[in-house]
Amino acid sequence: MTDIALLEKARLARKMAYAPYSSFYVGAAVLAESGKVYTGANMENASYPAGTCAERNAIGHAISEGERKILAVAVAGGPKDQESSYTPPCGICRQVMAEFGGPDMKVILEGDEGKPQVFTLSEILPQAFLL
Ligand code: THU
Repeated sequence: MTDIALLEKARLARKMAYAPYSSFYVGAAVLAESGKVYTGANMENASYPAGTCAERNAIGHAISEGERKILAVAVAGGPKDQESSYTPPCGICRQVMAEFGGPDMKVILEGDEGKPQVFTLSEILPQAFLL
């Protein structure tokens, strides 16, 4: 699974976003250790804090299918009527990534001209809290 292929799955998942309050549509795709890919989109709620991000929905999807180790996460986000663009994960999602990803997990984001921009989790979440 190439970085661009995983990012493309995130772009497709983004079409399923339910974001009537922010109109900010996000899709995520995670590559699990098994080799399977799981996707998610953001899901908002009239009670705003009840909404969840695409990344956590995708990770929850993987974990609830029995996966325990995530190798890479791709994120595609942006205003509803625009192409996806650079959308770094929120702090809560980074913490959830730390639980299942480990410091070397790849975080694949939109870059210039559709080219993925790739980070490790430890770059975007140094000194993660873990038990
Ligand atoms: N959102 C995500 O799904 N992932 C991110 O990385 C950033 C924010 C969602 C939450 C909310 O539905 C909308 O984008 C605006 O914050």
